[in-house]
Amino acid sequence: MSAPPIEETALPARLAVLVSGAGTNLQALLDACADPAYGATVAVVGADRDGIEALVRAERAGVPTFSLRVSDFPDRAAWDQAFADEVAKYEPTLVVSAGFMKLAGAAFLDRFGDRYINTHPALLPSFPGMHGARDALDYGVKVTGCTVFIVDAGVDTGPIIGQAVVDVRDDDDESSLHERIKDVERQLLVDVVGRMARDGWQVSGRKVHLR
Ligand code: GRF
Repeated sequence: MSAPPIEETALPARLAVLVSGAGTNLQALLDACADPAYGATVAVVGADRDGIEALVRAERAGVPTFSLRVSDFPDRAAWDQAFADEVAKYEPTLVVSAGFMKLAGAAFLDRFGDRYINTHPALLPSFPGMHGARDALDYGVKVTGCTVFIVDAGVDTGPIIGQAVVDVRDDDDESSLHERIKDVERQLLVDVVGRMARDGWQVSGRKVHLR
């Protein structure tokens, strides 16, 4: 599994960013993309719900958006297919899950599995799932962090592209720890996406090499 050779990928790379909430990671990507030297542009922002700050951020930046709710489809597979079709219209070089609270299904992974990345607020493979910061805190680890990885069919199990470390403080609660992780996570995501966009990447088994 590897990206198209960079000489076949016109710059700027086209990003489809998937969101469900505040969208501070999306904002970091939008800000980075404002510099032509970054090598990427946000082509579309897709959501699984309405009324979220992330969609406001996209609209403010003049980026096309769409929102498809699972509850508006007969079943999860139909939603997954429709979501993949909508993303495909924008011909993304890279699909970036940035606080998107849905697992991709078979149709989405068939279409984008070679170019779909996610960011997680823990040092995978520790503390996968919905509550990475809380689970690390409850376990009592002294360091945690964030991970950007290529999405596969599992829950936060795909090949790791980049990680960054954050100290856990004695007086942390879930919110303070998650906010400090997110500070580092935004920088990591911008760095990884920029390198993938500009230089390409290769995956061999579990090893990801940024060129
Ligand atoms: C991030 O920590 C992400 O890893 C997690 O949810 C958070 C999203 O934050 N899944 P935001 O919406 O980008 O501000």
